Amino acid sequence: MEQEILELRKKIEEKVKLIRKTEDLESFRLEYLVRKGAVQSFFDRMKEAPKERKAAIGKILNELRNYSENVYKELKERYEQGSQASPDIDLTLPGKRNFIGAAHPVNQIMQEMVDIFNSMGFSVAEGPDIEDGYHNFDALNFPPDHPARDMQDTFFIESKNNALLRTHSSPVQIRLMKAQKPPIRSIMPARVYRNEAISARSLAEFHQIEGLYINKGVTFAELKGTVIAFAKKMYGEQSKFRFRPSFFPFTEPSAEMDISCFLCGGRGCRICKHSGWLEVVGCGMVHPNVLKECDIDPEIYTGYAFGFGIERVALLKTGIDDIRLFYQNDVRVLEQF
Ligand code: DAH
Repeated sequence: MEQEILELRKKIEEKVKLIRKTEDLESFRLEYLVRKGAVQSFFDRMKEAPKERKAAIGKILNELRNYSENVYKELKERYEQGSQASPDIDLTLPGKRNFIGAAHPVNQIMQEMVDIFNSMGFSVAEGPDIEDGYHNFDALNFPPDHPARDMQDTFFIESKNNALLRTHSSPVQIRLMKAQKPPIRSIMPARVYRNEAISARSLAEFHQIEGLYINKGVTFAELKGTVIAFAKKMYGEQSKFRFRPSFFPFTEPSAEMDISCFLCGGRGCRICKHSGWLEVVGCGMVHPNVLKECDIDPEIYTGYAFGFGIERVALLKTGIDDIRLFYQNDVRVLEQF
C-alpha cells in the first residue's frame, strides 16, 4: 500500500505540471481531491494496513493530501487573480530589466567630500540660497565698488530689497560665526548662482563646499595640511598639488590650490585651459575685518577658510570633460556612476 501511495504521489506531481487553466484545475480536483477521489480512497483503505505500518502509511498519506490541497489552493487563487498561465508564454525569454535609481554623481561627490571632512572633525552647517548683500558681500569685506557685486555676475531678486541668489558659499561662514562662539570647525555645502555664460567649464548654478576653522593660534600651515590631507584622500596619494598666492577680500593671505590635470596628465588640454593644472580650492586666513564683523576678537582668535567648487571635483573624479553633461539629465551619462 505504501508503494501505491508513493506512485500516486508521483502521478499527481506529474499532473500538476500539466495544469494550465481553470478547467485543468477542476479535473485535477475531481480526480484526486473529492470524497470519491484517488487520495481519499486510500484513507478508506487504511483498515487494511498492517498494524505496525499504520503510522508510517498514515504519515505519507497525510503529506500527499496536504500537498495536493495546497497545490490546488495556490493555483485556484492565482487563476482567480486573473493570471492564467498560458501555454503560449515562452518562459525562456530574457526578463525585462528594471532601472534602479541612484544618487546623482554631483551628490555622490558631495557626500564623499562631506564624509572625508567629517572624519577630520568638521561638522556640517547650512545657510539660505536667497541671501542679502550684507552676508554675501559686506560682512565678507567686499568693498562697495567690488566688481563681483555687478549685475553681470550676481542674480539680484528685483522684487525684494537687497535680496540676491548667493554667489558663493562664503556667506554661510558669516552666519556661522555670528551664531556660534569659537572654536568653530565646519564645512558648508551650498548651491550657488552666478550670472555666467554656460560652457564646458562653467554653469550659472553650481555647488561649493565652504570650510571654516576658527580657534586660538590657527596657522596657515594647518590650512595647507588640512587641504592637502583632504585632497590626497579624495584623489589618491600620488596626485600632485601646488599652492599659488591669490586674492579674496575675506582672507589675508589668500591662496589657491591646483591639482595636476587628470585628463591630459599635465600636458595641457581644453579642461585645464592648456595649463596642465586645475584649480580646486580657494583658501586663506580669515581676514581680521571679517572676524571683527562677527564679534570675534582677531587679537585672540585666528582661523582659515576654504571653498571648493564641487562640479570641478566631480569632473576630476568621473573623467567627464564637459560640466554641462551633469545637468542634461541624459540617463546614458548618469547611469555610468
Ligand atoms: N568664495 C570663493 C569663491 O566663490 C571661494 C573661497 C575662496 C572661499 C577663499 C573661501 C576662501 O572660504 O577662503 O570663489
